[in-house]
Amino acid sequence: MPNTPAKIGIVTVSDRASRGDYEDRGGPAIREYLDQVMSSPWEAVAKVIPDDRDTIAQTLIGLSDDVGCCLIITTGGTGPAKRDLTPDVTVQVCDKEMPGFGELMRKVSLEKVPTAILSRQTAGLRGNSLIINLPGQPKAIAECLDAVFPAIPYCIDLVE
Ligand code: MTE
Repeated sequence: MPNTPAKIGIVTVSDRASRGDYEDRGGPAIREYLDQVMSSPWEAVAKVIPDDRDTIAQTLIGLSDDVGCCLIITTGGTGPAKRDLTPDVTVQVCDKEMPGFGELMRKVSLEKVPTAILSRQTAGLRGNSLIINLPGQPKAIAECLDAVFPAIPYCIDLVE
């Protein structure tokens, strides 16, 4: 059977980007990062959605259960503001939290910016999908993924 490309969900969670108040730079930065590090064919399924609890939940569930993404990376909505809900919804839709991802990303980020303490970013598993939260700052994407990327294929292999 021919190998089908792995599907990877890229979800920008931002009221303003979803309204078109500004251009989404986080989603394209994730795509660019993956283009550089992925060693096998992959296909992006990208979404830009508001910081709305139900929309985030439906998007993550759809990408996992219906689209069959092995990996879903979110950007934005990890901070302390009232509408920052991405980590809360991630935990809500996952069968298992994987707290080590958030711990390591915060640790390396703190070496770059003291405000990294404000991110509640985490990760979790829903079915065969690994969901990882990144902060909304486009420069945070490589800063965080550099730290955890080596663990991602291993984690996905373990749950398949
Ligand atoms: N982590 C990294 N690596 N680089 C950053 O610039 N910004 C911080 C933090 N983590 C940042 C970071 C800031 S300023 C905030 S408020 C929180 O992530 C939450 O950001 P978010 O709500 O856009 O997800």
